[in-house]
Amino acid sequence: HEGGYMEMRRAQIHFSPKRGWMNDPNGLVYYRGEYHLFFQHNPYGVNWGNMHWGHAVSKDLVHWKEVGEALYPDDFGTMFSGGAVVDTKNSSGFGSTKEPALALFYTAAEKSWTQGMAHSRDGRSFEKLETPIINKITDGNRDPKVIWHEPSKHWVLVVYVSEEGEQHAMHFFTSTDMKSWIFASKVLGGQGNDRYLFECPEFFELPVEGGAKGERKWILTGANSQYAIGTFDGKTFIPEEERMFSQQGRDYYAAQTFSNEPQGRRVEIGWWRTHTNQDGSAFNQSMSIPMTIALRKTARGTRIIRQPVSELSALRTNIQKLKGSRLSAASANVLKSFQGELAEIKLRIRPEDAHTIHLNVRGLHIIYQVTEQELVVDNVRAHAPLINGEQELTIFVDRTGVEIFASDGEVFMPINYNLDPKNTQYSLSVSGGSASLVDGELHELKSIW
Ligand code: FRU
Repeated sequence: HEGGYMEMRRAQIHFSPKRGWMNDPNGLVYYRGEYHLFFQHNPYGVNWGNMHWGHAVSKDLVHWKEVGEALYPDDFGTMFSGGAVVDTKNSSGFGSTKEPALALFYTAAEKSWTQGMAHSRDGRSFEKLETPIINKITDGNRDPKVIWHEPSKHWVLVVYVSEEGEQHAMHFFTSTDMKSWIFASKVLGGQGNDRYLFECPEFFELPVEGGAKGERKWILTGANSQYAIGTFDGKTFIPEEERMFSQQGRDYYAAQTFSNEPQGRRVEIGWWRTHTNQDGSAFNQSMSIPMTIALRKTARGTRIIRQPVSELSALRTNIQKLKGSRLSAASANVLKSFQGELAEIKLRIRPEDAHTIHLNVRGLHIIYQVTEQELVVDNVRAHAPLINGEQELTIFVDRTGVEIFASDGEVFMPINYNLDPKNTQYSLSVSGGSASLVDGELHELKSIW
């Protein structure tokens, strides 16, 4: 890759900026044949501040190319998080139906706390409107997310608002031209520290797998990945199930999904706090891998299901397939002949009477406690139920930690952890009884850079 990205501590299968601090993904959108990943960026240092929208593009969601800053701070403030849509109906008038404009929605923060809009015809240069599209509601209001609501034929904007008395809320606005917005409704997201809809709203509709025929639900999430499921009529969201967590790991935040995704999938990327500014390096933080999101009716209620996007298989090299075998305290390590700094590990295990299943990933211990049906990784604990008596684990391994998918996608556990560069070994063992390894696949992965 021209110009680096090869530092010792830089994630090799996750996006991070060449220079500067990064936090939230912004304006995830597919436009003119490319996936666009904008992000909260401080181009001047490895700590948070001077927020710009950085910008990277990809043809395959896996390999990214930075193309320079998209939005710079201005008289209204610094550029906080927000969303993007393709204006296919040209309701803004900034493009045409043949060549639709790309519209970005952001918060001008720390000064005016207004919501602003910028547009583009080429996906590279962006022109801001001279005046805000929504005036300040309260100090700190931020992170507009815009979607098209087909049944009502209008745009919907959801924005986080901290109301009087530390009441957290998401306010909904509607518009037909993207420029003038009318307040429609709000959803309360908890008080003080008991908040669950806080910052960076994401809002979308999905079919319910295993639900009634044609059943669809709306999902509203806050930055910590807690979410509500409910109904939406174009103006008012009515929650039915609330406060579930869609991830069980550590330091996964402010996730957003792509609008205009060409295959119609709901693809998510989140900010994965990995502290990569050691040893005087010139960049800090990374994004998660891209994942698809679905809704499934489970024994525990309707829940978000995540899977890594299939495009990631382009990184696979040196596959080893594992055949079914019996695992006991006495059996040899079936992962012994596999090595890799970057890896995708897939294991299907039937625990039978084993008490614990112990996977050692380059020195990081991933422990499945069978009786409790809990995954324990570096002091983080997640309920990970067996599905049909099996536990199926998919683990992406990078220099900065692991992303674990368990319980058929119900469990997503990103764990930031600086893996020892000298240790590229893996092992699988069981204790307290025996288990069967149904099958497995071990892939060494190539760097995305
Ligand atoms: C979430 C957040 C957003 C804000 C942005 C500023 O991480 O606090 O609410 O827009 O970061 O960088």
